[in-house]
Amino acid sequence: MKPARVAVLGGGRSSEHEVSLASSASVREGLLEAGHEPIAIEIGRDGVWRRDGEEVAVTPGRGLDGVDVVFPVLHGPFGEDGTVQGLLECLDVPYVGAGVLASALCMDKVMFKEVMAHAGIPQVEYRAVREESFASERDRVLAEVSGLGLPVFVKPARLGSSVGIARVLSADEMPGALASAFEHDSLAIVEAAARGLEVECSVMGNDDPIASQPGEIVLGAGEAGWYDYEAKYSPGGMRLVVPARVPDRVCERIQEIAVEAFRLSGCSGLARVDFFIEGERVLLNELNTMPGFTTTSVFAALFEASGVAYAELLDRLVQLAFERHEGEARVRH
Ligand SMILES: Nc1ncnc2c1ncn2[C@@H]1O[C@H](COP(=O)(O)OP(=O)(O)O)[C@@H](O)[C@H]1O
Ligand SMILES: [Mg+2]
Repeated sequence: MKPARVAVLGGGRSSEHEVSLASSASVREGLLEAGHEPIAIEIGRDGVWRRDGEEVAVTPGRGLDGVDVVFPVLHGPFGEDGTVQGLLECLDVPYVGAGVLASALCMDKVMFKEVMAHAGIPQVEYRAVREESFASERDRVLAEVSGLGLPVFVKPARLGSSVGIARVLSADEMPGALASAFEHDSLAIVEAAARGLEVECSVMGNDDPIASQPGEIVLGAGEAGWYDYEAKYSPGGMRLVVPARVPDRVCERIQEIAVEAFRLSGCSGLARVDFFIEGERVLLNELNTMPGFTTTSVFAALFEASGVAYAELLDRLVQLAFERHEGEARVRH
């Protein structure tokens, strides 16, 4: 492929701003190594886009600052949720990763689970809770979520990096956990706790996606006992074991469901699909359309272990972005 001018978007308005800056710096280096020309565009916490310190101005239909393709290395709301993807569609510029609908769907843990449940994909039991119904019908809501038993996980519906999530061990912790989730989103999800392993699988492609080897998340000696923010980002917080220590047929089932979830949610480019494994049961947890993307992040490490090195991975993703854009240009609207 000939070298492409790639705008790498990093930062953003979500609480995953710092994580995105780290991911986007790695992506720029990898693109350079692959022979492309990365251009850093940093999105401030205030939402302002800057290139070399200058504010970026855009005109719908006119692309983005003369680049060939955009790599939105943004995590969480206002980046991974279809909003930036919608802007890029309006600019008519090719971009890496999922489009508007898939991004929005996978960002929303409730909507995603509903769509996966409809297709019969196994998941933990869950209930959605709206802030407004918790305020107006508190007792009914508490009775309903108590049906999930204990412990449960309480999460804001649209966030990532474990921010705002609580593991609830007793009924009296539930109101506080819901209140914490509502600080981040007016919609929360309460989930029965899965036991067993956490396993993640990377997927890449458009119409014919491939799955990496699944990897197992082994937690360090952190206090929480689950994969919280500290375990994710502090040194020694977690260790990735590839391939995951599960029987071959479980491994294949994980890869199958990863690809199926990717297709069902209409993803393109890349995704990291996360699971809980209870014995031989494979339960889908979530799908991240723009997972952490440093060279040591799980997404890249799993492809590395599957024979696709970091720079090659980036090169293929850029190619997939062009292919998708060309494919869509052929469709009459
Ligand atoms: N239903 C569950 N059962 C067991 N552990 C869970 C459950 N939900 C979340 N967790 C723990 O919390 C972590 C973060 O939850 P997740 O839904 O993946 O949110 P995020 O989008 O912030 O990564 C998981 O990796 C896992 O360690
Ligand atoms: Mg997760």
